[in-house]
Amino acid sequence: MLSLGIESTAHSFSVGIVDEKGRVLANVIDSYKAPEGWGIEPAKAAQHHREVADKVLEKALSDAKKMMKDIDIISFSQGPGLAPCLHAGFDIAKRIAKSNKKPLYGVNHCVAHIEIGRVSTKAKDPVTLYVSGGNTQILAFVDGRYRCFGESMDIGIGNALDKFGRALGIGFPAGPRIEKEAVGGKYIELPYVVKGMDLSFSGIVTDAIRKKEKGASLKDVSFSLQETLFSMLTEVTERAVAHTGKEEVLLTGGVAANKRLQEMLAIMCKERGAKFYVVPHDLAGDNGSMIAWTGVLMHKNKQKTKEELLPRQRTDEIDVSWL
Ligand code: ATP
Ligand code: FE2
Repeated sequence: MLSLGIESTAHSFSVGIVDEKGRVLANVIDSYKAPEGWGIEPAKAAQHHREVADKVLEKALSDAKKMMKDIDIISFSQGPGLAPCLHAGFDIAKRIAKSNKKPLYGVNHCVAHIEIGRVSTKAKDPVTLYVSGGNTQILAFVDGRYRCFGESMDIGIGNALDKFGRALGIGFPAGPRIEKEAVGGKYIELPYVVKGMDLSFSGIVTDAIRKKEKGASLKDVSFSLQETLFSMLTEVTERAVAHTGKEEVLLTGGVAANKRLQEMLAIMCKERGAKFYVVPHDLAGDNGSMIAWTGVLMHKNKQKTKEELLPRQRTDEIDVSWL
């Protein structure tokens, strides 16, 4: 069985093809790049997605050495995401499903991050820390659904790092640059904002920018920003592990590439006797394979979805019938 998935919630338009075991046959990603210094403009990103769609689809089929007739099901990201971007993916998914007479599945983007993480790392029932540009969530399976145990109350962790980078003119995306810069830095105190299980990053970034403007070195501020933000993430993840009694932690999203964040979580897991997994880099950011694979799980479990977009859909609205 072959499944084709289309991801288009934000910057990236991607088509992935996976088989019934979750093996990835193709995973083509084409990302919209906003002009330097600008955030994402949904209409521009959506236009990009529509322009590259056919090319990305053809490349995915050719990478997988398959034809459209070999595909059994088609899935699209249903939400959460930017409505114009979601529409671009949905239109293409509907078009190819109809013209090739294939069943169509609407997939929740956050659930898809967890599922591709589970299948690619063999984690069974983890607490998942999903850290990307726009998202920061601590999720775990309880009572038939993935529940959100903690999340950012303002911006996503990646966007927080990028906001810092933009203010200091170190280029986009700033995460990898901050990571390099931080090596060997000294700690300068920054605010630490965890409220219950929720996190807030904006004020910390503003304070870090102010410290730099007042003369602290980029190295020390980068180091302190990472230590502070990642300690907050580790603290809340640890409490979710303690609360749920789970024995695994799964790290995913674009920020999962950060070695210092990986190290902090690995230490926490070791101390608690939990197993720690990191999703492979090419499947950690937004990608079509995660949508395709979640479509397989829904299809196998006869979990139908409505043919509609839900830009504000929450993770815990989705029945997880396959667990
Ligand atoms: P979303 O999934 O929320 O739509 P996105 O597509 O912007 O977000 P990803 O591609 O998952 O997100 O991740 C991009 C983010 O990851 C950027 O904010 C970038 O700065 C950050 N990032 C990438 N590499 C690293 C790193 N090594 N350390 C920290 N952050 C990183
Ligand atoms: Fe994502």
